[in-house]
Amino acid sequence: MKVLGISGSLRRDSYNMKLLRAAEELLPAVAGFEIWEDLKAVPPFDEDDEPGGEVVETLRDAVAEADVLLFATPEYNASIPGQLKNAIDWLSRPFGASAISGKPVAVIGTSYGQYGGVWAHDDARRAAGIAGGTVLDVAMSIPNSVVRFAGHHPADDQEVVSQILQAITDLAAA
Ligand code: FNR
Repeated sequence: MKVLGISGSLRRDSYNMKLLRAAEELLPAVAGFEIWEDLKAVPPFDEDDEPGGEVVETLRDAVAEADVLLFATPEYNASIPGQLKNAIDWLSRPFGASAISGKPVAVIGTSYGQYGGVWAHDDARRAAGIAGGTVLDVAMSIPNSVVRFAGHHPADDQEVVSQILQAITDLAAA
């Protein structure tokens, strides 16, 4: 199983990126885990610029080579961060023959609010599904990010570790 992780947060000390790092550590060595770190460089989607430049091509290649996509994203204003949605828009093209077409997609994440960013996660699943991805039944929306992870890494949080292990098991089963 080759997993491609993408964080919906561009922030240097992003807790969602740390969730991906924790998943990377926990994934059995037989599986591959790559984190795609160029989300910030993806240009705004514009039909006039299709098929897109070098960064979009790199994103498409990374997605094409993965067996499963793992988005870890915060919620911004009750929805998906714009830059992650923008990447999904690029990945949706050409519709029906895109890199994300038929690709299993799982969405997890942590946010400050009490619902852990579940609206963003639902929106990301909906967008990825409409873009052609096969949305997996993996759910993990961890609340209180800013407080909870202020003093320790998610990889050192036993409850988070067991939830990530469950998510990995669900990914492998899918
Ligand atoms: C937020 N945050 C937030 N949290 C939440 O639960 N629901 C929300 O609608 C929002 N909206 C929101 C908008 C913007 C512009 C920012 C910057 C933040 C808080 C956010 O979830 C929290 O800071 C996360 O920890 C950010 O993720 P990273 O950067 O730690 O991965």
